[in-house]
Amino acid sequence: MKVLIVGGGGREHALAWKFSRSPRVKKIFCAPGNAGIAALAECANINAEDIPAIVNLVRSQKIDLTVVGPEAPLVAGLVDALEKEGYPVFGPRKRAAEIEGSKVLAKEIMLKNDIPTAWYAVFDDAAKAAGYIRKIDGACVVKADGLAAGKGVIVAPDASTALEAVNMIMKDKAFGAAGDRIVVEEYLRGQEASVLAFTDGEHVVPMLPAQDHKQVFDDDRGPNTGGMGAYAPAPLINVALQKHVLEKILVPTVRGMAEEGRPYRGVLYAGIMLTEKGPFVLEYNARFGDPEAQPILMMLESDLADVLEALLAGELNKVDLRWHSGASVCVVLAAGGYPGSYRKGEVVAGLDKMPENVLAFHAGTGIENDRVVTAGGRVLGITALAEDIPAAIDLAYRGVSQVQFAGMHHRKDIGKKALD
Ligand code: AMP
Ligand code: GLY
Repeated sequence: MKVLIVGGGGREHALAWKFSRSPRVKKIFCAPGNAGIAALAECANINAEDIPAIVNLVRSQKIDLTVVGPEAPLVAGLVDALEKEGYPVFGPRKRAAEIEGSKVLAKEIMLKNDIPTAWYAVFDDAAKAAGYIRKIDGACVVKADGLAAGKGVIVAPDASTALEAVNMIMKDKAFGAAGDRIVVEEYLRGQEASVLAFTDGEHVVPMLPAQDHKQVFDDDRGPNTGGMGAYAPAPLINVALQKHVLEKILVPTVRGMAEEGRPYRGVLYAGIMLTEKGPFVLEYNARFGDPEAQPILMMLESDLADVLEALLAGELNKVDLRWHSGASVCVVLAAGGYPGSYRKGEVVAGLDKMPENVLAFHAGTGIENDRVVTAGGRVLGITALAEDIPAAIDLAYRGVSQVQFAGMHHRKDIGKKALD
């Protein structure tokens, strides 16, 4: 079969790598891809959000399965557009992807279905939000309703920080119309985990639990990023908790979405805070996490083409996901300055020196004069598979030590929490 992957980050490189190992996949296309994906796939210079161009590509190349990586094309309706023409596509439709595209909708689904989450209030008026925040007069979290490239959430330790966030989102319109409404919610304490599941709208099959590292610096200091590294499985989510998350969070979410007339098919990602009162949902994503997909897909033994085919047939109950034993760790190498402004075009060296069982998934890379150069904030995700987490950490950092580019930085404590 011919597969098209939409997107061009580390997640999409991991997807391309996984499909490249399937005996059933004869050719992989990617739009737009990156320098690493180009070694496995035919990359088309098409923006992931250019729906007409992607539909044309699927038509002209006779693609058998399209897999959508990022949230923006999902929320824009790429899946609906392809389905309308009869093309098989993996990912939620627009109305279902709104579970990520609208924090207000996500909260409503949780409230209606008794899914544990922080208490909250919704505002479309900055003055009213400010009044509410003054009344709380303590830590809270301010969230832009719509998509904001991972930057729309401000964890405010005090009221004045929260008020600044309201101004930035609602008055300065830092995220445009995504900030027309905001959610102000309770500040939760605990450890975070990412629980992703495949669902065909009826059956829900969880993947290995993972943990992301959102802050840019070691020990979770500094501003939030798209994710500086991840590992799987996360021991924090033990077998009993996995069952709890499946039964009390994932299944009720999928059922609740169907009841809203938003049948959900694709990957459902629940961002969980493990509080003293048990797991609470911080957010939903309508797709694989990035960088969580890198270690999860490296751990996945099953053929992804088989899994997605069963899912699209509504037969996920017939799938028994098989996983490698051991663990996988992904360390993100970022461009100097990231998550602020950063330079592009730095030459990347050492990619040919990865140890065995280590993959250098490309995220923001391009090719200039036949050399791999940096082209984004998160440049690479060095991902290792080993017999346990300590061994996978060691191996991933051995891979990291081979890579150089000007300004490169990374966290040195990816996976450390799993050892505590
Ligand atoms: P989100 O995009 O909603 O997952 O938020 C991004 C990050 O903000 C999360 O990964 C958490 O670290 C943090 N966060 C979000 N909601 C809360 C909350 N209610 N309490 C504490 N931290 C939060
Ligand atoms: N790593 C977090 C996300 O993909 O949203």
